[in-house]
Amino acid sequence: MGDVPPLVMRAFEAADELGMPRTQDGTGPSCCLPGVGRFLAVLAAGCVGGRIGELGTGVGVGAAWMASAMPADCELVTVELDPVRAAAARKVLADDARVEVIRGDAFDELARRAPFDLVFADGGQSARAVELLRIGGRLVVDDVTPVEALPADSPYRTNDPKRGFFFTDSRLVATEVVLPDLRNSLLVGTRVR
Ligand SMILES: C[S@@+](CC[C@H](N)C(=O)[O-])C[C@H]1O[C@@H](n2cnc3c(N)ncnc32)[C@H](O)[C@@H]1O
Repeated sequence: MGDVPPLVMRAFEAADELGMPRTQDGTGPSCCLPGVGRFLAVLAAGCVGGRIGELGTGVGVGAAWMASAMPADCELVTVELDPVRAAAARKVLADDARVEVIRGDAFDELARRAPFDLVFADGGQSARAVELLRIGGRLVVDDVTPVEALPADSPYRTNDPKRGFFFTDSRLVATEVVLPDLRNSLLVGTRVR
């Protein structure tokens, strides 16, 4: 899968219609970057007979990346608080019976459906998201800036809450993946206990 999948293009169009930025511009929630989407697709492709959960659907860009790559016998549940974004995502993903878009609080809704093989936590706390994973399941969080790309005086150089969590929680074996643009990174961890 080299190009951007058609379903992801549809989700981008939905984002444009709602004025949701395709990349972070500081005005509010934005879509996941293509580098993140592609990484999610790689992990989703390995979820044979598996289940994927997403906290914070937005208009469905990340979900579209995962749905475009996941095996036929895999299911994806994605939850969004905002009713307008949830409705837009439901429309984008309507033709894929493996995907369920729920309007509500992701922790409540996904806890009822856990455990998952892969969780993309894009709207909420990582610590609670780990509880949604089966042992061996993977947690992904984006919107991290590589240390090398941070200003010299940024407090995030030494104290980033997301890194702090991923690298100290004993339930996770984790690493940071710097995206090809070298300006953004994500954190991924496998639950081992
Ligand atoms: C960065 S956006 C999501 C982008 C999306 N995952 C993508 O791949 O394009 C974060 C979203 O999380 C939603 N959100 C925040 N807290 C949430 C919660 N507790 N449950 C469900 N959605 C939540 C926000 O309304 C927002 O739309």
